[in-house]
Amino acid sequence: MQVIRPGIYAVGALNPGMRVFDIVMATEYGTSYNSYLVRGAQKTALVDVCHNSFFEMYLQNIREVCPPEAIDYIILNHNEPDHTGALAKLLELVGRVTIFTSQAGALYVRGITNRDDLDIRTVKDGDTLDLGGKTLRFVSAPFLHWPDSIFTWLPEDRVVFTCDFLGAHYCEPYLLDVNMAYPEKYQKAFLGYYTAIFAPFRPHVQAGLKKLEALDFDMVLPSHGPVLTKGCMLEYAMDRYREWSTPKVREKRLIPVFYTSAYGYTRMLAQSVAAGILSRGDADAPLLDLIDHDMGSLHGILNQADAFAVGSPTINRDAVPPTWHLLAGVDAIGSAKVPCAAFGSYGWSGEAVPNINARLSSLRMKVLGEGLRVNFMPTREDLDKAEALGQSLADSL
Ligand code: FEO
Repeated sequence: MQVIRPGIYAVGALNPGMRVFDIVMATEYGTSYNSYLVRGAQKTALVDVCHNSFFEMYLQNIREVCPPEAIDYIILNHNEPDHTGALAKLLELVGRVTIFTSQAGALYVRGITNRDDLDIRTVKDGDTLDLGGKTLRFVSAPFLHWPDSIFTWLPEDRVVFTCDFLGAHYCEPYLLDVNMAYPEKYQKAFLGYYTAIFAPFRPHVQAGLKKLEALDFDMVLPSHGPVLTKGCMLEYAMDRYREWSTPKVREKRLIPVFYTSAYGYTRMLAQSVAAGILSRGDADAPLLDLIDHDMGSLHGILNQADAFAVGSPTINRDAVPPTWHLLAGVDAIGSAKVPCAAFGSYGWSGEAVPNINARLSSLRMKVLGEGLRVNFMPTREDLDKAEALGQSLADSL
């Protein structure tokens, strides 16, 4: 337990050993599941909960402040199980309690606890909850990072609880940023976290920043990583979100050509697709062999692309695994309707191209035709078709 301000206590759990978050996200510096007890003159509220794996540590931290049954209200800013996984166990100890969350959050919390007898109050933007000298004011903040997200502002103490927003998968023993020992490592973790979690939601990030700018506060209490204070890391964090969420103005459109190639045949097609794009004169067409680049940077390029092509040989009746790793990083919300095309050389049966097309279609992207399948070494005619495919991609914008 750590005292943040009088009557505000951090009771969450530190997880310095975590190295992979949510199955796919590298977390070099661990993470924390921050949860806060706010004690007013009359009532006590718990803001966000904790990952289920750390329940005993979490409970001990709560008990350093008050017995669990002294909690009157639970505020759920966001209901992903890293913040609500321990809720069901906690409720067994807390007993009857009122839960405050958004309308979407009410649906999620019932599914996460498998209980339909909970006392849930859904909150709207501007609703308040008086604890006695401490007023919780709820701020709608959807898609930061799920549709259910809200912020909770405590004006008397000038603090805002933002859950995922402005957080970081970063763990040091003390939560306040003024105690941070390795700010450069934090900044690296902060960028990685933003890229993985918030980059797909840029318009919502900008809306969230505007909501925060309208509030009077000097401290942000996220539910991952350090507490951010004015004059230390708060300005840095908000400035970076502002910078990273601002759309970049490019002189030319970006149509990358992603590929892998076993014997160089699919590479030949990729080169012709790129030549076709470039022939239109108004787009860049970087050629990117998937095994030569970091997958995280490829995802960044893919999710900024105006259109793209992806090529794979067929092995074991499918596209090769790096192709699937690439497509697993598609921002399915921001990239919907982006024009794209598949191509590839094959030896026996050639399922890679239709399988890629099926995946792109399921992501609701704008797939151009059936793509281009070529048996073994492309002929001059095949390369012309690949060039025409590139031209069609450029013309589709
Ligand atoms: Fe930390 Fe979206 O949960």
